[in-house]
Parts: sequence; C-alpha cells; structure tokens
Amino acid sequence: MGELNKSLFGDDFQWGVSAAALQTEGACDVDGKGQSIWDVFSSKKGKILNGDHHHIACDFYNRYQEDIDIVKSLNIPNFRFSISWTRILPEGTGEVNQAGIDYYNRVIDYCLQQGVEPWITLYHWDLPQALEAKGGWTNRDVVVWFSAYVSICADAFGSKVKHWMVMNEPSVFTGAGYFLGIHAPGKSGLRNFVPAVHHTVLSIVAGAKILRDKLPADRQIGTTFSCSYIEPVSQSDKDIAAANRADALINRLFIEPILGLGYPTTEITALKRIDKFILPGDAENMSFDFDFIGIQNYTRELVEYSFFTPYVGASLVKATKRNVPTTEMGWEVYPASIYEMIKKFNAYPQVKKIIITENGAAFKDSLVEGQVDDQQRIAYLDDYLQQVLRAKNEGYNVEGYFVWTLTDNFEWAEGYHPRFGLVHIDFDTLKRTVKNSGYWFRDLLSK
Ligand code: NOJ
Repeated sequence: MGELNKSLFGDDFQWGVSAAALQTEGACDVDGKGQSIWDVFSSKKGKILNGDHHHIACDFYNRYQEDIDIVKSLNIPNFRFSISWTRILPEGTGEVNQAGIDYYNRVIDYCLQQGVEPWITLYHWDLPQALEAKGGWTNRDVVVWFSAYVSICADAFGSKVKHWMVMNEPSVFTGAGYFLGIHAPGKSGLRNFVPAVHHTVLSIVAGAKILRDKLPADRQIGTTFSCSYIEPVSQSDKDIAAANRADALINRLFIEPILGLGYPTTEITALKRIDKFILPGDAENMSFDFDFIGIQNYTRELVEYSFFTPYVGASLVKATKRNVPTTEMGWEVYPASIYEMIKKFNAYPQVKKIIITENGAAFKDSLVEGQVDDQQRIAYLDDYLQQVLRAKNEGYNVEGYFVWTLTDNFEWAEGYHPRFGLVHIDFDTLKRTVKNSGYWFRDLLSK
C-alpha cells in the first residue's frame, strides 16, 4: 500500500481528533458543576483500575487553550469534544448554571479563533447523579430531562457550532453501565438494561428532533455508534448463529431502531421484553433522518457458541488467547475491521453519510529525552486509514476520520493506564508532549 496523504481522500473529507469531557476536563466540582454518575462511581473502591479517578484528568478545563493550540499546530481542522450535562444543569434539570455555558462558549470561541472547527457531542456518558437517583436511563422521564438539556445547548451554542452528535456509543454506556455493571452507574441485569436501551433510543431521537427544530438549517446532525467486525470462530452452525446474535447486540441494537427498522429481537430473543416498555405512539419517535452517522471502530471480535451466556448464547474469544497482535486494551489489531464496518453501515439505505468519529489505539509509550517514538500507533493508524481509503475508493460513502484521541486521558474503568493520545501527558506535572504519531498525523494533513 502506498504512502497516505490527505488529498487521496478528496477535498470534502473531514479530518479531526476526538475527546470527551469526563476523560479530559478534571475540575469536577468547580464553578457550580454538579455531580455526575462517574464522580460517584469512580470514588467507590475497586471500580477503577489502580484506584485512579478523573478529578484532575488532563486539566483540560484550565488548559483548553494549550490543547487547542496543539490541535492547530498539528494542522487538524476539526476537534470533537463533549459537553458535560452537569456543568450546564448541576441537578440534571431545573436551574441553568451560567458558568457552565460560559465555559463551553470560551472553548468554542477559542477553537473558532484558532481556525479549528468545534464538533459537539451532547452526551458522552456523564449522566447527572441527581437523575440517576431517580433511576437514570431506566426511568422513562429521562427523555424529558435529556430533551430540556439538549434544548439549552442548542440555544446556547447553535449559532456557532455546525456539527452536532447527540450521543456517544449508546451500546457501551447501556451495556457496561446498566447490564454488566462495570461502568457508572454500576447497575446490572436485563431489568435495568432493557428499559435503558429503549429510553436511550427515544432520547437520541428526541434530542435530534430538537436540534433540527432549533438550529439553523445548514447544521449537520449526527450521532455515534461503536461497532466491531464480528466473525464466528468456526463455520459450524452453532458458531455462526452465535456470531449473528453477537452482531445484533454489538452492532445493530441501536442503529436499526433509529433507522426505522425496529429492534433486532429475532436474533436477541431476551430483548423481546422490550415490548413492554414501548408505549403507544413510540414508533413515530424512535427514528430520525440523521445527516451523518458516526461510527467508532477499534477491533474485530471472534465469537463462539456458549451455553453459559444465557441471553445471547455467544462468547467473545479474547484476542489475548488467540496469538494475534493486540493493543494495551487487549483488543486485536485488525485493520480490515474498519473497512468491513463502513461496508456494513453503508448497506443501510437510510445512512446518508458515514464519518469515522473515533479510531485509535493504546500502546505502551515511553517518553525518552522529550520524545515519544510511538511507531506501533503510527502503524495502527496508517493501516486502519488505508482500509478507510479502500472503502472510499470502492465507492462507500465515508466522509471523515477522527483519531481517538488528542491527549492521553482517563480511560473509564481502566483509569490512566491505557494511553490513546497523539499527545503524551505526564499525569504528575500535566506536561504535554506531542508524540511522533501526532507529527505523523500533522504531516499526513499537510500534504
Ligand atoms: C470509545 C469511547 O467513546 C471513548 O470514550 C473511549 O475512550 C474510547 N472508545 C477508547 O476505549
């Protein structure tokens, strides 16, 4: 494969870097911010690897100018970040915290001054704790709470921000937070997961409709989904059926209702109980015509039939047991997965445009004499991008690519151990050092 440069992707292709409020901002309790579910979850013993917490994180709250300067210096034209609901509405609903609005206006304005386009995600997993106390995503009222929050953000930032994403990876925050209990708020079981799924779908659509109503007509409205290329470990009927069920759960559960196709209950029979949460009139409020769909891919999963996973009868075979290259997250490095996912999402006629809103990798980095020579990350990004280009050249409608992520940051339950950034952070001094992958990306974007 040849050397990459941005012109191979065409003039309209959108290049960027992604981040999220909770993972970078720190400043958890300043300027009127309320508590989120992650503030509570990460303070509980044993929830976050090494007892890490995000109270300071990258201190992006105070150092946003320095970080946006880095984005600019690397020639990255678009910066995706999220708004923290509890900075805007400390209690989740009710009184607006003007200091929170002012803060995001400062961030947005600084981006614009530097010629960096801000892309906003409205929900990147940090639900207000005051709303979790009332059931969080399991409580149908969340649709009303979320709608009010979206409406405030649309009014506050709509005149300046052109690209909006309603939510980030719904299957991860509902799956890890309300089924497995390994992310905030730490709830588990189908009785939490199933209503959380339906209320999330209703909220994504309600949020998108509000943005459409309130924002100027040229604004681009999207939402993002995680996805992994799924293959069976063998061609046995049982493994193939298990892989199909895992695919429905991992890749189809949220996008299909939102495209008007309903929940994939044929494959995931345990999900049939969702019917009891679908009220009359919901059908019209479950789908939306998004301007773009953000897809976030890191890896593929191999699936085998398992008697011991009662809900889907499928198990993921860990990459670390398969003698394949892996990242620090234990995820297989498998570049063709991004190509396969672009193809898969492109196959839905309702998907107008795909943007890769996240792709990247955590590797062990070492800072030696002021340099991080992260060749593994460069190879990973290059190989995945080659697959994006392959999809594009074959005519699939992929129109953008955002690296996860700008700076090393708080990787949820994994804490600070996995480093995904193009920019290294020394978490003792908070000093930023651009890694060679950052310079590699800059050079790709300069040609
Ligand atoms: C998906 C999430 O959106 C982001 O928050 C996370 O850090 C990355 N993937 C890496 O796991």
